Amino acid sequence: MEIIVRNENKKDYGRVEEITRKAFAYHERIERGGIGCPYEHWMVNELRKRDGILELSLVATVNDEIVGHIICSKAEVRKDGNILPVLNLGPISVLPEYQRLGIGKALINELILKAKDLGYGAILFFGRPEYYPQFGFVEASEFFISDSEGYNYDSFMGMELIPGYLSLAKGGRFYESDIYNDDLNRESVKKFDAEFNRALIFN
Ligand SMILES: CC(C)(COP(=O)(O)OP(=O)(O)OC[C@H]1O[C@@H](n2cnc3c(N)ncnc32)[C@H](O)[C@@H]1OP(=O)(O)O)[C@@H](O)C(=O)NCCC(=O)NCCS
Repeated sequence: MEIIVRNENKKDYGRVEEITRKAFAYHERIERGGIGCPYEHWMVNELRKRDGILELSLVATVNDEIVGHIICSKAEVRKDGNILPVLNLGPISVLPEYQRLGIGKALINELILKAKDLGYGAILFFGRPEYYPQFGFVEASEFFISDSEGYNYDSFMGMELIPGYLSLAKGGRFYESDIYNDDLNRESVKKFDAEFNRALIFN
């Protein structure tokens, strides 16, 4: 099976949101999200409008069909009034029937290479602690960086793309794009998902 990773184009947007929804439409995740529907397809849609980095929105194809996607967005580490820009990774999605075939791996490896090429200093994000260490991600606590509330846990991870970059913000706190603010977005997500489903049914 040949996996090709390339940049996302405008004409891919609908398909990418569809596979994102499918990848995250499992019971445990929806329960945890507390909205009653998956929300990651809304995130991808919203990130393209604000804070998403389009050069780091990549799709994986097999036989010319998009089966996976990853995107990064702008985030920052704040420390004593200073701001260090970093990348936030995610969402990453692989269509359920294509999972565990190396597609996520191909997307993440390409993303790291591209982000380095573009000159970004570091990636920080929240994700599955059992999956990401294979790519070189370590707990953010190793860089002495905490979440926006001052906490650390194993699902908060990072990687320097430029060696020593995160030491510039040692002791700092990580802030993601405003789109991750649940209170702000709950209703937008529900509305987006309802319209998304209608569009799928009638297409
Ligand atoms: C998580 C996800 C992106 C992984 O992509 P994938 O294409 O299925 O994973 P890969 O085949 O590239 O996995 C690479 C390696 O990681 C391992 N792996 C895959 N998923 C894993 C998981 N959930 N936990 C632990 N290890 C995992 C695989 O066994 C594989 O190891 P191998 O070298 O033995 O083959 C994909 O399963 C997905 O879209 N899941 C639903 C959405 C989601 O949870 N996204 C991430 C939220 S943080």
